[in-house]
Amino acid sequence: MKSVLVCDAQIDYAKKIAKALAEVSDAEVVHVAGLPEACKRIRAGGLGLLVVGPDMALDDALVSVREIRDEGSQIGVVLCPAEVTQEILHAALRSGVDDVVSSGALLAEMRGVLEEALRRARRRCAGTDEPGSPAPRGHVVTVLSMKGGVGKTVVASNVAVALAGLEKSVVLVDLDLQFGDVGIMLGLEPVQTIVGAVQSGDRLDAEMLRGFLIEHASGLRALLAPTLPEDAEIVTASRIDRIIGLLVSMFDYVIIDTPPSLDEAVLTALDRSDRVVVVTMMDVASVKNSRVSLQKLRQLGYNGALVDIMLNRADSKVFLKVEEVEQAIGMPIKYRLPSDLQIPRSVNKGVPVVIDAPRSQPAKVLQETAKTIVAEREGVHGDVA
Ligand SMILES: Nc1ncnc2c1ncn2[C@@H]1O[C@H](COP(=O)(O)OP(=O)(O)OP(=O)(O)O)[C@@H](O)[C@H]1O
Ligand SMILES: [Mg+2]
Repeated sequence: MKSVLVCDAQIDYAKKIAKALAEVSDAEVVHVAGLPEACKRIRAGGLGLLVVGPDMALDDALVSVREIRDEGSQIGVVLCPAEVTQEILHAALRSGVDDVVSSGALLAEMRGVLEEALRRARRRCAGTDEPGSPAPRGHVVTVLSMKGGVGKTVVASNVAVALAGLEKSVVLVDLDLQFGDVGIMLGLEPVQTIVGAVQSGDRLDAEMLRGFLIEHASGLRALLAPTLPEDAEIVTASRIDRIIGLLVSMFDYVIIDTPPSLDEAVLTALDRSDRVVVVTMMDVASVKNSRVSLQKLRQLGYNGALVDIMLNRADSKVFLKVEEVEQAIGMPIKYRLPSDLQIPRSVNKGVPVVIDAPRSQPAKVLQETAKTIVAEREGVHGDVA
């Protein structure tokens, strides 16, 4: 067992960590009082876990974690601030921290978090999970809009099916946990859902997760939303993070459909995303909504380069022009999906339009979108089908 490094001004905090770990491992707990010293020790190697105590300045700690991650360190990192807020959680996950737990947490909770972080670090060292490891890693695309009914699920499910048609291994995840309808749009029976995966707890691994995916005729796999809206509650952000982490090690493409909000589930997906497709429509309410969504994404640190805009019902006879929409949201429109009766028809049949009417205009746009996603991921330009 590798050593655990506790960085805090107080040696007493290292003693608390040692106590939490006493029953579960024979790891030696080492104390350092400052972050520069901690980084030096980590670079020297031989450590399994870094625990950052409540006395350390949070911003400095996150900068240090980012640095050691950029250098390729696989060490487990747990942050223990006096108080855990959503802002801290998101900033921490983005910096490469494995978990955050309140410094005053009970020993049993602390033990669970430390154990899980050690496990994750071990998996990373074995090259099975995280960025930085040589294992191939799937490309995560999240389809987003804070307005309902703009076509997120139509886009996510058709792009996923089109990717499967390009001989890629694809999983479609329905993170609209309360009202998800990916299953309906793909005509799938929800015999398994994300609830089973969540209920597997810490035992969940790739093999087990495969058992909760439903296969579609196109070859894609779907992880469906709970059938009972009240079950959404048990699908916590940390479980979703773990599930997506496993899926990227299993599939070339992980496509994520979302509810019309920026809830915890969506923020977790965004933290794991390589690209975000924001769907908007030509009406003033949608455009205003998209502008706010893009502002939020920027505040969260997602720059425009990773965000693509899809204009749905792009040919609608409304007073707005495409250029006006672009100006209002401050970004160019990348994809334009026309309004077409084939879409509601295919939705009602439970057969995606790229299969139901492959030569229709919307099907062609959705197929092109899939090809562009592949080309951008693989660094190739032009037709890659
Ligand atoms: N381009 C289009 N032409 C015609 N109908 C469309 C088009 N895009 C979407 N629709 C219709 O709009 C409805 C809403 O689409 P969809 O369910 O994909 O929206 P959503 O953004 O996922 O909604 P929610 O936020 O409620 O999940 C669907 O019934 C679909 O048939
Ligand atoms: Mg939807």
